[in-house]
Amino acid sequence: MHTIAPHGGVLIDRIASPEQTAAYQAQGDLPKVHLSQRACSDLEMIAIGGFSPLTGYLDEADYLSVVETMHLANGLAWSVPITLPVTPEVADSLEIGQTVALIAPDGEWVGVLELTGKYTYDKTREAEKVYRTTDENHPGVKVVYEQGTINLAGSVWYFERKPHPQFPTYQLDPAQSREIFVAKGWQTVVGFQTRNPIHRAHEYIQKCALETVDGLFLHPLVGATKEDDIPADVRMRCYEVLLEKYYPKDRVVLAILPAAMRYAGPREAIFHSLIRKNYGCTHFIVGRDHAGVGDYYGAYDAQYIFNEFAPGELGITPMMFEHAFYCKLTEGMATPKTSPSQKEDRIHLSGTKVREMLRRGETPPPQFSRPEVAQILIRAMQG
Ligand code: ADX
Repeated sequence: MHTIAPHGGVLIDRIASPEQTAAYQAQGDLPKVHLSQRACSDLEMIAIGGFSPLTGYLDEADYLSVVETMHLANGLAWSVPITLPVTPEVADSLEIGQTVALIAPDGEWVGVLELTGKYTYDKTREAEKVYRTTDENHPGVKVVYEQGTINLAGSVWYFERKPHPQFPTYQLDPAQSREIFVAKGWQTVVGFQTRNPIHRAHEYIQKCALETVDGLFLHPLVGATKEDDIPADVRMRCYEVLLEKYYPKDRVVLAILPAAMRYAGPREAIFHSLIRKNYGCTHFIVGRDHAGVGDYYGAYDAQYIFNEFAPGELGITPMMFEHAFYCKLTEGMATPKTSPSQKEDRIHLSGTKVREMLRRGETPPPQFSRPEVAQILIRAMQG
């Protein structure tokens, strides 16, 4: 039995051996670059193979090709630029060919960059092409506008794969999730990306997908999210109580994704699916407004973008779902595709509405959120 090939054919592993790490650390006088939260989680994602085939931060040719065409310079599909932006002062202090120490936001020396290039880039163009907006209020665009103006390029090494400080038992790297899927005998696995507390519509689309594949890989993103998103530890507790009671244990694997959220909607849906392919998923769920924020994207733009790739090009099969809700008419979860109901028959609450209710200590209706989940959220919101 074998799993789906990683993107580009080889699962990248850029975690240095202890000897290699010691040798780098012995060179105490290496120039330093301080990583942003996003660049730091990108480093981790590259090292563990989640961003295969990338072995480092993009060079100029790959960067331009990704921004303009959603492909790396070698023609392989890739939709979001993975970059290491620094200020001109930092860039000027470095020489091509140098080994650069990469310092995490908490001050720890976490890896190195073999510097092969430095280049300026057009932030507005990146915003326009990748985020489809140049509005600085967009949380992903804001990060781009605030970051350095020169990108550093080169392969990286990450020093040590430490257990996640909050969720050590849910840390599965792509090589491990692949092994688990094989051990379970799953030929087909559907991945589910999420950054929000699980609600009934999520549960519905996950289970609809699971009806037709062997296993479900629940993969909540726990890297940086925007401030008003619900913290990852609260979301994980919701998953735990829900799995306990409402999911078949032998069909589901829950693990964390250490990546940062970009809120790039359609481009991020492609990115998210390629990442899950690297984790060994054959299918990937793309629902309503995937990775969207505010009203920057149409509800199904993140589904339409898959048509811009040749059949089979991505190598992972998207499973698209329309807007799911509880339908009073048919007395069950449904979408406009499966129920003739009108708006007044549908129970659906916006994220903002739900947050308001929870803050007031009100339980959302059980048709929207399982009571066990609502209780966790109310406690968390009320501090
Ligand atoms: S996301 O930023 O990670 O996409 P969220 O956690 O809300 O946000 O969504 C996870 C997945 O569920 C995405 O594929 C999204 O499109 C889908 N989804 C969320 N709510 C619904 C809904 N009511 N109907 C259909 N799909 C949904």
